[in-house]
Formats: sequence, C-alpha cells, structure tokens
Amino acid sequence: MHTLELPADLDKPGTYAELLASLSALVEDEPDLIANLANITAVLKQGLQGVSWVGFYRQIGPDLVLGPFQGKLACTRIGPGKGVCGTAAAQRTTLVVPDVDAFPGHIACDAGSRSEVVVPVLRAGVVVAVLDLDSEQYARFDAVDAAHLEQVAALAASLAW
Ligand code: SME
Repeated sequence: MHTLELPADLDKPGTYAELLASLSALVEDEPDLIANLANITAVLKQGLQGVSWVGFYRQIGPDLVLGPFQGKLACTRIGPGKGVCGTAAAQRTTLVVPDVDAFPGHIACDAGSRSEVVVPVLRAGVVVAVLDLDSEQYARFDAVDAAHLEQVAALAASLAW
C-alpha cells in the first residue's frame, strides 16, 4: 500500500521531485497500464495545489479518447487537431495556456477552467496519449510545471502500452 505524504513548505521543483519519486515507486509494482495511469492522475491531483482536473486522453485511431482522470466529468472524445489537447498532440509538443479563453478552439469541458497545460506522451516519437491538467486560476502552469510534467509523461510512456 502506497500513501502520498509530502513534506510541508516544498517549493515547486521539490514538490515535483517528491511526486516523481512516488510515481516511479508506484508504477514499478504494477504491470497494468490503466491502473498506473489512474494512480498517476490521483498523485498529481492530490499533490499539486490549485489543480481542478488531471487526466489522460489516449490516442485511439484518429481521436483522443478520455482515459483515467481525477475531477469533474469531461469530454470523452477529442478529434484530430481539436482543442488544446488535439493541438498538443498534432504538434507533439507541450502547450502551456495561461488563459484558455485566449486559445482559439479551446474545448470548455468545465466552464470554471481558466488555465491548462497539455503534455504529449510520446513512444518512439508517436503520440500514444496526452496528459492534461486544468486549473480554475489564470496562469496556474509555467515552464517549471511543463518541464516536470514532461518527466511524468516520460514515465507514463515507459509503461506497457
Ligand atoms: N480543454 C481541453 C479539453 C479537455 S478538458 O480540459 C478536460 C482542450 O481544449 O483540449
């Protein structure tokens, strides 16, 4: 049984270092992809302040299809190139969106969402999923979040897809 206990007063890199260590230990013990993706979203939701939604969309055929997540119910299927998620997948790059209303084509699953970060999960250069985080605060995510969430995405990519 794993529990997540973060020391108080950690800065952002310190928090991510703890979360990544927990995640590595968690997935090491479990071969099932869905179980691991589910726990990754739980650890991020529990460990990061000001995050309203965390989830994976898996690339299934042309669409991104909702996978394990934490938060309010969400759009189930995102077409190619649509929204922040589809754009990040098409460009195979991380997108940090400080104000979702300023992003052309943003898909508003939750009207309360103000900012978002989407990180592609790449296996041998192929997008197998995206990791999406939302916040009800403007500009909740920055380059430090992006860099560390890319490490989480790399860990997810190392699982048995
Ligand atoms: N806002 C996303 C859709 C997914 S939800 O945020 C959970 C987008 O524009 O792709």
